[in-house]
Amino acid sequence: MSNYHVKTLEEYFQVYRKSVRNPELFWEEIAEEHFVWRKKWDTVLDYDFEKTEFKWFEGAKLNITENCIDRHLHIRGDKTAILFEPNNPKEEAQHISYKELHKRVCKFANVLKDHGIKKGDRVCIYLPMIPELAISVLACARIGAVHSVVFAGFSSTALATRINDCEAKMVITSDGSYRGAKTIDLKSIVDEALEDCPSIENVLVAKRINSDIQLKEGRDKWLAPLLEEAYQDCVPEIMDAEDPLFILYTSGSTGSPKGMLHTTAGYMVYTAYTFKNVFNYKENDVYWCTADIGWITGHSYIVYGPLANGATTVMFEGVPSYPDFGRFWEIVEKHNINQFYTAPTAIRALAKENLEFVDSHNLSSVKVLGTVGEPINEEAWHWYNDNVGKKKSPIVDTWWQTETGGIMISPLPYITPTKPTYATLPLPGIQIALMDENGKEVKGNQVDGRLCIKYPWPSMARTIWGNHQRYKETYFSAFDDMYFTGDGALRDEVGYYRITGRVDDVIIVSGHNLGTAPIEDAINEHPAVAESAIVGFPHEVKGNALYGYVILKETGEVRNQDNLRKEINQIITEHIGPIAKLDKIQFTEGVPKTRSGKIMRRILRKIAHNELDNLGDVSTLLNPEVVQNIIDNRL
Ligand code: PRX
Repeated sequence: MSNYHVKTLEEYFQVYRKSVRNPELFWEEIAEEHFVWRKKWDTVLDYDFEKTEFKWFEGAKLNITENCIDRHLHIRGDKTAILFEPNNPKEEAQHISYKELHKRVCKFANVLKDHGIKKGDRVCIYLPMIPELAISVLACARIGAVHSVVFAGFSSTALATRINDCEAKMVITSDGSYRGAKTIDLKSIVDEALEDCPSIENVLVAKRINSDIQLKEGRDKWLAPLLEEAYQDCVPEIMDAEDPLFILYTSGSTGSPKGMLHTTAGYMVYTAYTFKNVFNYKENDVYWCTADIGWITGHSYIVYGPLANGATTVMFEGVPSYPDFGRFWEIVEKHNINQFYTAPTAIRALAKENLEFVDSHNLSSVKVLGTVGEPINEEAWHWYNDNVGKKKSPIVDTWWQTETGGIMISPLPYITPTKPTYATLPLPGIQIALMDENGKEVKGNQVDGRLCIKYPWPSMARTIWGNHQRYKETYFSAFDDMYFTGDGALRDEVGYYRITGRVDDVIIVSGHNLGTAPIEDAINEHPAVAESAIVGFPHEVKGNALYGYVILKETGEVRNQDNLRKEINQIITEHIGPIAKLDKIQFTEGVPKTRSGKIMRRILRKIAHNELDNLGDVSTLLNPEVVQNIIDNRL
């Protein structure tokens, strides 16, 4: 029996029990057999919940790109590593073999070195879903630079905040990007951001849309000629197990975005292991995850996990609706996709369209379907199961987070019986606890509580860049000696988990985490706004949408409400990005507050959900009178 690839339910339980009995032995056996190490570790795990220090495979030396590329060269050199499917279906797909990937990553790594990038330096990558994105990520890892990918839908302000937080030395971007029928001028977003980023020395620009853009003398350079001239081999930097691999920002319920830091060895072992098992990956499969590499899903399950297994991983540049709503299924048919991994929001959007878009394609290659990012509702689950999976491809509902680095709770396809809306069972090595509000573990089945993890796992984020205290407070202070996820969950009669959603002020819109605080801060920048409060409310496609309660400085009747709404959304777009725009904006004279002045979001949430009969006791509020007024004027 191999720990690395579980084949039956009985084997899963055996492996799971072993992983709990002796976690270190469990992970050691996996690490030992399946990776290339320049030097093996001295200790498998060293941890201290009190200090919030977690060290995996200490003493080991490796380079993750050797594991993702070099070691495949002699057995799968000509196999496609990255299959790039462009935005425009008329443009030819690119098959980048492992050999070719090696060459391109090495060349890119040499260009980085020529521009003064060294081990430990931070490089910000702000690129659309083109091959250069995966290649630049791997090039950073090749030389030990820490990549910080910023999703190319974020605004210039959001980009600048992230660059400044980690003091990146370089930005890698493109002249623009395609998104369906539109083109987006990425370079000018970068230019705007860099007005305020003193740490940036160079900007490397990939050409994608052939637009006529200005390069800033001394700072910006076209990438293509540099790559052309670069040497095609680059000796990998030998890294310590706990050396930083990347930073990825995620929203918190308060304050600025958190730069989650992931390190090398544990992340590699965990993403490779989970990729193999959760997607039941077999050597000649073609695997497609529709996420953007700007999110953790893309890092772990487009780039590192698949490549560490020598897989063929698809990168799709476009959107599900272009040129029509059949695009996903057209791609599945065209490339004979075996594993297809997407988000509930995409499933819901496609389920609204004519079934003919799905039925006109041959999807018989599909063996496993995956979902991630937010709870999947029952209707969407069935639509996916019936129409895409034809009731024969198991759905893996994978629960995890930017912070966890890899999938934590998920069925294993063809092994774990699935149940709609349930992420089912923890993967081997993952010890779950449900906690009540008093800090006691809720034992037994048919219970719910706050979802926690009570033993370290290899791919956990090690800190928040530049703010270890915040890391400790956010994840390790709610309950003693365990990691708190911020999610609520229930455990059913057979021990399956269902994630019920966030229990903090993070709202998940179309699968993207949005903190209320930064959006409120952005709104409050509007000269007419005194204060604001954001809550989520259910939305048919996006899962949640945002509802804003806005108090204006000037009291009395609000004129030009629609203009104001537009301006508020414009400010949000500038500060964060279009994903954070509000669906509803209600102008109000006040928002309910506690006597200590804290906004009672619980009440606002209920009103936005139209759940008016159970608002709870409002009499202890500082300003109970505003509640009725908000109800009367709700949208
Ligand atoms: O609330 C959970 C939800 O997404 C959050 C993590 O978001 P992020 O860090 O952006 O990572 C998303 C991709 C891994 C979680 O705290 N979430 C993620 N997957 C699921 C989910 N909620 C329910 N079911 C899931 N499968």
